Amino acid sequence: MRRQDLINTARALVADHKGLLAMDESTPTCNKRFAKLGIPQTEEARRSYREMIVTTPGLGESISGAILYDETIHQSKKDGTPFVKVLQDAGIIPGIKVDTGAKDLAGHPGEKITEGLDGLRERLSEYFKMGARFAKWRAVLAIGDGIPSRGCIDANAEMLALYAGLCQEAGLVPIVEPEVLMDGDHTLERCGKVTEEVLRMVFNKLNSQRVMLEGMILKPNMVLPGLNCPKQESVDEVADATVTSLLRAVPAAVPAIAFLSGGQSPELASARLNAMNIRFKSRLPWALAFSFARAIQQPALEIWKGNDANLLPAQQALYHQAKCNRAARQGEYNASMERT
Ligand code: 13P
Repeated sequence: MRRQDLINTARALVADHKGLLAMDESTPTCNKRFAKLGIPQTEEARRSYREMIVTTPGLGESISGAILYDETIHQSKKDGTPFVKVLQDAGIIPGIKVDTGAKDLAGHPGEKITEGLDGLRERLSEYFKMGARFAKWRAVLAIGDGIPSRGCIDANAEMLALYAGLCQEAGLVPIVEPEVLMDGDHTLERCGKVTEEVLRMVFNKLNSQRVMLEGMILKPNMVLPGLNCPKQESVDEVADATVTSLLRAVPAAVPAIAFLSGGQSPELASARLNAMNIRFKSRLPWALAFSFARAIQQPALEIWKGNDANLLPAQQALYHQAKCNRAARQGEYNASMERT
């Protein structure tokens, strides 16, 4: 294991107040988002969309790493330049999603287990050769009546730890993503309790698998009330609940926590991250950063709509959203930064 290389990569991924752009939607997920906007669900449309993203001028000012998907890491610009090279030239570290998706967990109605360990060692070595220096694996945990169960938390945490160990062996920084979903009518408090329980189990398993905490990044959900919960707390209350749970459950040896956006609007995701960085500035052992997909890409996708005539305004929207999130890392985001 190249210990110092892993530490250096993990630090570089959150240096200079930058963060990660998750552009690793699987083909079915990307197609679903395209379908909503009437964009053709073809490989060429997905390639063209990803070309719009990676060629955004100035993207590297706010983005330190981009998470690709297997299809995307093999793709190139129209002129033949591989996306990996485009990113590297922009000072952005290429990463890769390596799980193969969440499937129903046997014996646990309503719960999922993320798959992808078969052949992972070989895939990681291939991705490293292609230029990837970090990886991502997402576990999904739903909150509901009697769930998440201990069995589901335990199994997903075990998979995350085995994946993280293999990544570090291959020289890739593992992004460890246990996502507690926003769907449901649960309270903020319940989300906090579940998030803490999940994170404790994840770190327990990471330790069992001898994962070097200094060479990984945690990608959790923010602590939020369920989407259908009648009580929706303020930005500051969400910031407090989130950081309180993280301080209780995440070891200080972890260099950074990069949140997923999970379906929050870009404005709320930025405002909540901003509030955390303002309110807890001097008390945080780790960097609090972002690894958003929808909260960075969605406005750009809605402008682009599959038509390259909209390329420039779409890229401007992407650049802007990334910039807002870099500002939020510094506690300098302000709703007035939003485009009208
Ligand atoms: P969202 O920010 O859209 O939740 O996506 C982050 C991600 O990478 C999910 O795995």
